[in-house]
Amino acid sequence: MAKDYVDLTIMLVSHDAFRRDIRRLQKAAASRSLDNPLERKRVQTGWEIFKTQLLIHHEGEDRDLWPRMAKGLASSAEHLSTLRELEAEHEQIDPLLAEAEAAMADPDTQSDRLARAVAALADSLESHLEHEEKEGLPYVQEALSEKEWKSFIADQRSNLGFKGAAEFFPWVLDEATPENVDKVNSIMPAPLRLVMKTMWTPAYQTKGSWTN
Ligand SMILES: [Fe+2]
Repeated sequence: MAKDYVDLTIMLVSHDAFRRDIRRLQKAAASRSLDNPLERKRVQTGWEIFKTQLLIHHEGEDRDLWPRMAKGLASSAEHLSTLRELEAEHEQIDPLLAEAEAAMADPDTQSDRLARAVAALADSLESHLEHEEKEGLPYVQEALSEKEWKSFIADQRSNLGFKGAAEFFPWVLDEATPENVDKVNSIMPAPLRLVMKTMWTPAYQTKGSWTN
């Protein structure tokens, strides 16, 4: 029987946004300009958004997506073990986030602490995203119906709330390819697209972060 088609765009665009922010963080750590208060504030603003979005993303996968996939792939020990590995990787990333945050707050910005913390976080997050994209997400089609995938997306949406969505959408589309911008716009209701254009994106840009 043919499976429903599951559109993974929002997941993959989110992964691109995490990679983009990691690059920005690496650049900020390498420039060692955090002793400049304005620069520090910009980096911390960008960091806060990145960290919030990453934690929401991982929490939703652990609580909703992996258990749904585990049900759909229950007969495959290999897939179940991959799902457990992906969850364990989330747990390994948490202390690396905490160390990067502590390093950023450290007034001794000339130390190597931030560069080391950012390098460890980048390594771990990038390899996790690659693992998920190669060995987890390709099996979403097999594990879930389109209806179940939409329930997961709805769960993520209610977790974000309206306030969270106001930050998520401009963040996820920051530097996205025109093709991805079109795809994400196509899944947003027209009134939300208008709110995004007139309010959310300008507010995200005004907030200022390592992006500008
Ligand atoms: Fe993910």
